[in-house]
Amino acid sequence: MPASRPELSLVPRPRKVSPRPGRFVLDAGTCVRALPGTEAAAELLRTLLGPATGLPLAPAADGRIVLALDPQLGGLGEEGYGLTVGPQALLLRAARPTGLLRGVQTIRQLLPPEALSGGARAASWELPCVEISDVPRYPWRGAMLDVARHFQPVSYLRRYVDLLAFHKLNTLHLHLTDDQGWRMPVDAFPRLTSVGSHRAESLSDGVPHSGAYTKQELRDLVGHAAARGVTVVPEIEMPGHVRAALAAYPELGNHPGRSLDVWTEWGVCDTVLGVHEQVFDFCRTVLEEVMDVFPSPYIHIGGEECPTTEWENSPAARDRAAAEGLAGPGALHGWFMGRIGSFLVERGRRPTGWAETGTELPLDFTVMTWRDPAHARAAARRGHRVVSAHHRATYLDYAQSTDPGEPPAQPGDPVGLHTVYGNEPAPEDWEAGEAELVLGTQAQLWTEYVRTQDRIEYLTYPRLCALADRAWSGSGGDWPGFVERLRHHTARLDALGVPYHPLTPRSLMTASAGTAPSPR
Ligand code: ACM
Repeated sequence: MPASRPELSLVPRPRKVSPRPGRFVLDAGTCVRALPGTEAAAELLRTLLGPATGLPLAPAADGRIVLALDPQLGGLGEEGYGLTVGPQALLLRAARPTGLLRGVQTIRQLLPPEALSGGARAASWELPCVEISDVPRYPWRGAMLDVARHFQPVSYLRRYVDLLAFHKLNTLHLHLTDDQGWRMPVDAFPRLTSVGSHRAESLSDGVPHSGAYTKQELRDLVGHAAARGVTVVPEIEMPGHVRAALAAYPELGNHPGRSLDVWTEWGVCDTVLGVHEQVFDFCRTVLEEVMDVFPSPYIHIGGEECPTTEWENSPAARDRAAAEGLAGPGALHGWFMGRIGSFLVERGRRPTGWAETGTELPLDFTVMTWRDPAHARAAARRGHRVVSAHHRATYLDYAQSTDPGEPPAQPGDPVGLHTVYGNEPAPEDWEAGEAELVLGTQAQLWTEYVRTQDRIEYLTYPRLCALADRAWSGSGGDWPGFVERLRHHTARLDALGVPYHPLTPRSLMTASAGTAPSPR
């Protein structure tokens, strides 16, 4: 969209935007007519716009803002919507309620940025007249936040979700457990949080770190996210990345008498779960409680970076491998994941895991491929559903530029905005059947190096805007057009109080200029 219409510089870019002459004025007398089935969207509109603009947006049968479900828009799927803003009326339509939620976010972006700030008060606010028809490319557009390495309170997670929804992302993947902390309360195993949520220090800083959620907090978060059309996918790591659990319950490990601390280091920890039946009872019990809190169809059980040394050195694990007819202790990993995966399938959920190669997990797993882009294709070829999470394009814990004075980040070359934007989850040369299995993509923020909310947002934005744009708007991309829209969009981020990385020349350098790794 040209700079002359900055208010139409939407992120993500809608499928079709047709500017129309005139402006729609919102004022104290503007009411909302919510037709049957649209109540949740009307509520969201009021929740998001009411406090920010100071306008009541009261319900009324003759309201000039009309929300309607329209089966004729079925071609726009679960999340598509149509928005017509005319001088006299604003009409938002979708085939499904979630589409209306996406349209509400577009209405917010059409308003002047000050209307987003919460502190602004004006007698009236104007939107440009426009006709929009919009539909996402991918059904999975997400962000993973690691709250295991550094805990964040639910009040912050609500804001995090609000910012995802603002960019039409629909998945918050919550990394709840790891070697360095266990944040999910489990009634049957209270020591997971009473012991496992505290660590003595991080990266030798001498500063203890703690934190755990209550189930009520997590349920409230799930509800808050659902009202914005965002699914919270919980992740409980197994059989590796479990040092915090083993600090709480050493009998679940391969050396039952051993006493372990919640890990204070960073990297891949050798300690993994044992393979005796008590461990499977534990995993099933934990996951029952997880499923009780999180209605998400997808339940993530990690699975990556699981050294098999302890199993190789354990007579009990070797015996178990032999008894199960496995080739050796190294095969216990796939067997373990398969057993837990089948349990989740029996419960009607979709097991999800990090793929090390794309081909090692049972086929009923939805896999997140992160090590190498080639793994995504290998997984799809094999028949897995795939979420593209390649670390050199979607890990936001790497710095995003070589600007001087950047805060500490995950060691490694920067992952620049252009690289995130250029990431193509299913490149054109893939076969159709492979590409169809790609559900979408998501960003990850591992937080060993990231403690504060400001740092989370500095690393996340504007790179998450780039990921959201490509995941929603689809193939090809238009880098110059995106940068131009983003320049206007930063005014919205300012109004929302997001301390994003500024758009410096270095941060906007393209991979072809040789400063950032190739997108693929
Ligand atoms: C990962 O980065 N451990 C998936």
